[in-house]
Amino acid sequence: MSRNVLVKGVILAGGTGSRLDPLTRVTNKHLLPVGGCPMICHPVAKLARAGIRDLLVVTGTDPVGAVARLLGSGRQWGVDVTFRVQDAPAGIADALAMAEGFAGNNPVAVLLGDNIFQADLAPYVARFLDGGSGAHVLLKQVSDAGRFGVATIEGSRIARIDEKPAHPRTDLCVTGIYMYRPDVFQVIRTVRPSTRGELEISDVNNHYAHTRDLSHDVLDGWWIDAGTVPALQEADRLALHMPDNPCSVTHR
Ligand code: DAU
Repeated sequence: MSRNVLVKGVILAGGTGSRLDPLTRVTNKHLLPVGGCPMICHPVAKLARAGIRDLLVVTGTDPVGAVARLLGSGRQWGVDVTFRVQDAPAGIADALAMAEGFAGNNPVAVLLGDNIFQADLAPYVARFLDGGSGAHVLLKQVSDAGRFGVATIEGSRIARIDEKPAHPRTDLCVTGIYMYRPDVFQVIRTVRPSTRGELEISDVNNHYAHTRDLSHDVLDGWWIDAGTVPALQEADRLALHMPDNPCSVTHR
């Protein structure tokens, strides 16, 4: 794929946030403060800074009004934001399926709304486009890999991803930062619900791994899945010191 192709951005911000109860009993996880800014503003700003201007935010029926009030048109970050509702928290791949019409024939850069990280996305998007793979994931070495999708590498490729394994084979977690060619929507249609009843993004990524069409990078800088109380506190602390806090950036 050429670097001149238009990449669209997708932020997945549905789900229940049950691991943050009671913080999420009356509000949505993605509206909780992280570094003095509502959590969801972080992925919006990351995509905006990578030059991705056309964004879709997928969220649930309850929070959609508040999320839309917060982000508005996206003008504050110099982006155009579209919203879609995921009727029930049926999994990350189910939420991504909502982006099919929005993506059209364009590749997508997908961020999970609770992933807070330091690095600039632009070089990773460029490597995905230059590399020509079907999908690209960003990995991070972690001490608690069993909480995440875990990658097993063979040679220079990801051979498989295990979702929240009891005994992780490696300490390489698959972060919630994914890039896909537009055929991802056909792949999602082949995925069946897991034992926890969700369409798993790891099953989508495993499709690309098994067809040797999944590339990866290891993400630079700190990265946090802010889905638990200790992780949320850590994200809050680290994001506060970010030089490019999303709530202090005004583009227009
Ligand atoms: O953060 C990285 C991890 O995210 C990956 O390593 C895992 O492979 C991946 O499954 C995911 O694991 P989590 O357990 O953290 O997923 P969680 O259910 O917390 O959902 C993460 C985000 O995805 C959440 O902020 C909102 C979005 N989501 C989730 C579900 C289940 C949706 O938009 N819709 C959904 O139905």
